[in-house]
Amino acid sequence: VAGKLKRILVGIDGSEYARQAFEVAIGLAAGTSAELYVIIVVQPIQLIGTRRQVRESLMSFYEKEAHRLSAEYGALAKRRGVNIKAIIARGNPAKEILSAADNNGVDMIVVGSRGLGGIKGLLLGSVSNAVVQNSKMPVMVVK
Ligand SMILES: Nc1ncnc2c1ncn2[C@@H]1O[C@H](COP(=O)(O)OP(=O)(O)O)[C@@H](O)[C@H]1O
Ligand SMILES: [Mg+2]
Repeated sequence: VAGKLKRILVGIDGSEYARQAFEVAIGLAAGTSAELYVIIVVQPIQLIGTRRQVRESLMSFYEKEAHRLSAEYGALAKRRGVNIKAIIARGNPAKEILSAADNNGVDMIVVGSRGLGGIKGLLLGSVSNAVVQNSKMPVMVVK
């Protein structure tokens, strides 16, 4: 990254790994003029045979949780003197993280190495892997 970071984007999924990624991102932004963007991507559920109404209410439940999570992170950041901009998106997490990075002129993406999913033994989760593989900008993977 040439020069100072202006905009940092961190992906949050409610996991301890993401919380650590957030801590690192806060550390990068604190005391600088960098803006910190936090993104939470809610994935559409594909439950075969489930009525649309049921899927919609599950999605809105997850979206409420996402808002709660972003408020929690907003408060955490505030205590460290950093203001965050929260983005709540719907769709494929890696795709949404990458397009949010593009759309907001972000110069570094921060993700955890793993997340909520649980395949033990993998070094990188599928979201962090796809972000690293497809990003045009520097990605920090927090372990
Ligand atoms: N839905 C999501 N929204 C935003 N960021 C996410 C999301 N899912 C994963 N991430 C980011 O990617 C990191 C790695 O998660 P992931 O690749 O999903 O691992 P796992 O396969 O263990 O769930 C997380 O720590 C978080 O920073
Ligand atoms: Mg995951």
